[in-house]
Amino acid sequence: MHRESKENKFIIIATIITAIGSFLFGYDTGVISGAILFIKVQFSLNAGQEGFVVSSVLIGALIGAITGGTLTDRLGRKKVIIYSGVLFIVGAIIAALAVNIPMFVSGRIIAGLGVGTASFASPLYIAEVAPPKARGKLVSVSQLLITIGIVIAYLIDFAFAPSSNWRAMFALAAIPGLALALGMYFMPESPRWLVSKDKINTAISVLKEIRDSGVENEINGIEKELSEEKKSWKELFSPDVKIALLIGTLLAIFQQVTGINTVIYYAPTILQLAGFSSASVSILGTVGIGIVNVVMTIIALNLIDKTGRRPLLIISIIGMVITLFLLGYFFMVESKSLTTVALISLIGYVASFAIGLGPVFWLLTSEIFPLSVRGIASSFVAFINWTFNFIVALTFPDLIVTIGKTYTFWVYGIVGIIALLFILRYVPETRGLSLEQIQALLSKKFGKKSN
Ligand code: BGC
Repeated sequence: MHRESKENKFIIIATIITAIGSFLFGYDTGVISGAILFIKVQFSLNAGQEGFVVSSVLIGALIGAITGGTLTDRLGRKKVIIYSGVLFIVGAIIAALAVNIPMFVSGRIIAGLGVGTASFASPLYIAEVAPPKARGKLVSVSQLLITIGIVIAYLIDFAFAPSSNWRAMFALAAIPGLALALGMYFMPESPRWLVSKDKINTAISVLKEIRDSGVENEINGIEKELSEEKKSWKELFSPDVKIALLIGTLLAIFQQVTGINTVIYYAPTILQLAGFSSASVSILGTVGIGIVNVVMTIIALNLIDKTGRRPLLIISIIGMVITLFLLGYFFMVESKSLTTVALISLIGYVASFAIGLGPVFWLLTSEIFPLSVRGIASSFVAFINWTFNFIVALTFPDLIVTIGKTYTFWVYGIVGIIALLFILRYVPETRGLSLEQIQALLSKKFGKKSN
């Protein structure tokens, strides 16, 4: 056992520290759901303004995601994660002290820059310092932490709801932000990035600190890998990357336009629409939804390598489509039993998302691209995901007013049906395959006939 102690110890600490980034992704996006009930009243927001206030964090996130790739290449992974920790702190403080909507929105955009950057840089750092055999599991740990961050945000919302103290809900994010920045300060830079900047000696001493053996082999491997890498944006549109990009981009869109974040961000609002009377009770119902999200994600992580990605995705979308149509239907009928049924539908919907589309999307994003463009391509796909997250969050309150609750949920359901058809036809099963085998599978399935 002593053989692996140094390596294990490091990777556990590194995972915990960078996981704070994923946790804050969940916290900062989830906290608005309870807070909006009070902010709406305090600043007298109309439906359009409400959508903007909820989604302002996402504007920052999509900018953070698209600039993340380049920044982490230029400044290094470590610096960028520390910088995201600082953004979390500054954003939290500004939002908590906001005296008007522009100030509040500025704070949320700054925190959002942290979210988008961390959503990309934390897994990147872990993937680069982790021993290769542990990579897959660690990718999924970040999705789990997103869901835990969301639940903690709901609980904090619940705790402060009786005093209407929305400022505390935002201020608290500064604490994990500080832990992330400080913790990362003591972590080494990614040896892979160091080699890419010709700092070979530093890379060797870092690897000696974090590995039990095989340092020389690993350095050689990194150098070989780097010599094969092309980092240009144009590479993204070369024929062999196109199909992977199409799958990644469409899954990013489907993950958002089937409406998950209308529930994650607006669950208390939806529950109030469905007849739950007080803000506290609605937020408590939302905590239940968040816990289901965590539990089903844990189940998914245990199934992902056994049943494979496709069955989970397919079951997931079918479940989401059914519950979305149910939800729309009950809003149309408006019966007395609506409150309970709405809650059950919402829980079923989130459970369906968490068992498949939630974790599998991010996992596939890290699996289907050739190594040469994986950084840029996954940053691009993350950007698309945040962009559509933003569009859905922004338009939801307006849609509720203009086309009504029923048709809003049915529109998401119809997108789910299109997603299902696409997945059945295009998404490959990647379970147990190496990245090279996945590439071979993609070109065999979709490449030129000569292949
Ligand atoms: C999605 C987020 C969502 C979260 C919910 C993630 O996979 O990208 O938009 O809020 O799951 O658990």
